[in-house]
Amino acid sequence: MRFGNIMSLVFVLSLFLLLEVPKSCIAYDYFSFPQTWPKGYCNKQIDEHKTFHCPGKIPKKFIIHGLWPQPSQQAPNGSLLVEEDLKPVEKELGLDWPNLIGKNFIFWRSEWQAHGVISEAQFPKLEYFKTALHIYKQNDLLEILTKEKIVPKAKEVYSVTSVLEAVKKHTEHDPQVVCYTDSKKNVSALYEIRICLTSNATSYRNCPNPHGSCGDGNLLFPK
Ligand SMILES: *[C@@H]1O[C@H](CO)[C@@H](O)[C@H](O)[C@H]1NC(C)=O
Ligand SMILES: *[C@@H]1O[C@H](CO)[C@@H](O)[C@H](O)[C@H]1NC(C)=O
Ligand SMILES: *[C@@H]1O[C@H](CO)[C@@H](O)[C@H](O)[C@H]1NC(C)=O
Repeated sequence: MRFGNIMSLVFVLSLFLLLEVPKSCIAYDYFSFPQTWPKGYCNKQIDEHKTFHCPGKIPKKFIIHGLWPQPSQQAPNGSLLVEEDLKPVEKELGLDWPNLIGKNFIFWRSEWQAHGVISEAQFPKLEYFKTALHIYKQNDLLEILTKEKIVPKAKEVYSVTSVLEAVKKHTEHDPQVVCYTDSKKNVSALYEIRICLTSNATSYRNCPNPHGSCGDGNLLFPK
């Protein structure tokens, strides 16, 4: 094959690649960025399944759950995520986006397949995970809450509104809190906080339904 032929083949191939990922077509309105409070999540597992599902050491910081294009929708068949794709950020992901109940990569792949592929045209694989890590670094929820004297406690509860206000002080927008009901203490207990961002993931915006499943009363921030 002559050099010219190879070049035109390369040209045609790159055209195909460009066509496959139309940048203009945005399939979602905004992002929800849920962070898990590990102690709450693990206690919830015990409460609901009566067995302990978190085998490792429970991190004492909020960790990434995912980066979800919203409104939620059936994810299309996007490209497959393989471990090799995440090599450049694997260590960071292991610290900030660990799987509390199994192998890390299985968690990352399931989040990619269920959510990441929806925004793949705007945020290709590595970009998507880097974006999540970047947002995480700018929103240290434990620090944000501690500033307002909201810290994990075994018994003491906080008003749901005070937790929402504390996060809002940082983002200037409504977050959303997620709770389960601690059946022994008969109280809402926190296991996730979500903040919301515009579709380019650079500005905050309000989340819908700030009180989430936590109600209007108090919540436990489990220690
Ligand atoms: C996705 O892949 C599955 C299995 O290969 C196929 O049955 C389905 O039709 C595909 N869906 C879309 C939207 O392409
Ligand atoms: C649980 O708390 C709710 C309201 O906080 C109360 O109405 C209900 O009676 C309580 N249930 C039990 C079993 O204590
Ligand atoms: C991101 O989107 C928001 C809202 O749509 C817009 O105000 C902002 O300028 C965008 N930022 C960039 C860097 O494109």
